[in-house]
Amino acid sequence: MKNISIIGSGTMGIGIAQIASDYNHKVVIYDKSKKSLKIAKEKLEKILNRLIEKQKIDKKGSKRILTNIKFSDSIKEIEKAEIVIEAIVEDLAMKKDVFQEIENLVSENCIIATNTSSISITSIASACKTPERVIGMHFFNPAPLMPLVEIIPAIQTSNDTIKKTMTLSESWKKTTVLCKDIPGFIVNRLARSFYSESIRIYEENIANKETIDWAMKELGGFRMGPFELMDYIGNDVNYKVTETIFNEFYFDQRYKPSITQKRLVEAGYFGRKSGRGYYNYLVNENLKINQNRELGKKIVWRVLCMLVNEAIDALYLKIASKEDIDKAMKNGVNYPKGLLEWGDEIGHRVILEEIIKLRETYSEDRYRPSPLLIYLSKNEKKIFENAEK
Ligand SMILES: NC(=O)c1ccc[n+]([C@@H]2O[C@H](COP(=O)([O-])OP(=O)(O)OC[C@H]3O[C@@H](n4cnc5c(N)ncnc54)[C@H](O)[C@@H]3O)[C@@H](O)[C@H]2O)c1
Repeated sequence: MKNISIIGSGTMGIGIAQIASDYNHKVVIYDKSKKSLKIAKEKLEKILNRLIEKQKIDKKGSKRILTNIKFSDSIKEIEKAEIVIEAIVEDLAMKKDVFQEIENLVSENCIIATNTSSISITSIASACKTPERVIGMHFFNPAPLMPLVEIIPAIQTSNDTIKKTMTLSESWKKTTVLCKDIPGFIVNRLARSFYSESIRIYEENIANKETIDWAMKELGGFRMGPFELMDYIGNDVNYKVTETIFNEFYFDQRYKPSITQKRLVEAGYFGRKSGRGYYNYLVNENLKINQNRELGKKIVWRVLCMLVNEAIDALYLKIASKEDIDKAMKNGVNYPKGLLEWGDEIGHRVILEEIIKLRETYSEDRYRPSPLLIYLSKNEKKIFENAEK
């Protein structure tokens, strides 16, 4: 594929354009807003200058990336595209409109991909005359740096579209995983417990936020603590993802959003970007980390058991292969280990005991062991049978 078009020049659109252009595609990036295009171009120039300073690219490389990209506020410019990647705002009606517009301009063989984080690919595809060419291509932020791309076929998508999208992503040295069109795909769905179980521990005053963050990093091996990470992502964004997944799963208690986080959003405490979130970035906060290792281990254990149970349930429901589930969490959110591999290592019986204990304590459906976890525990089986070899 030579010609690639991107729709939407925001955070994700410009990142994806940078990758495609770096791999020598001719890129058209279209946005309906001239202002967004201007900001996107300035942002890209800044990033490229920083890469020159760090000696990651030279001036020639930077020029090549910039000249490969045409910034345009006329959608007609996308007509030569062999693949169009849509990255406009997260709104189904707007995405459907744009997909119809795209379909009227491009050739019949052109693939139309969406970078949506939470909208059903099937519902977007249903707006098109040829839904077989529509697919989800979910990049992570920042797109040029994060290795993972989740490939999500709609139920109408053809095998040819899947194959070509995979091949293209892999030619960009991305790690790809194939995932069913279910809410949250792999990463956003599985990662819910990392945030929500930590918030529960905090709400119950078992530990304060800084102690939970310390435990998850120091004892759990996670790169960031859940509260730091929510503040980094933005509580508005993180809350919205949880709320969407909860609604889409018909209010399954496992994905229930938290009022604590909702209040932060209502107050405008979005996190780093607004100066205040769980943490206050405007003052020198007096943090009181309780480095009691027994307490820390309890925190990590509870969150980890919920994460592994969720990953095992995703496998049980055949959302993706066992290899892809583990690859996704390591490459999409930098988890120190794949969750299924981690479960094999810890042992399924003790994880099941913890989930049952939580269920008995709280009488909530949220603490519901996956049927596959029960099976693995009863039969003393591992997911990767020869993992220790
Ligand atoms: N930001 C993230 O971390 C992230 C990660 C993965 C996926 N996504 C998904 O990627 C998509 C884009 O997210 P973002 O963060 O880059 O958004 P953004 O708000 O930064 O950018 C959206 C851009 O789309 C443009 N736009 C809106 N409607 C348009 C239309 N009808 N035609 C053309 N341009 C239009 C806007 O002018 C804006 O420049 C969303 O679907 C989001 O869910 C975001």
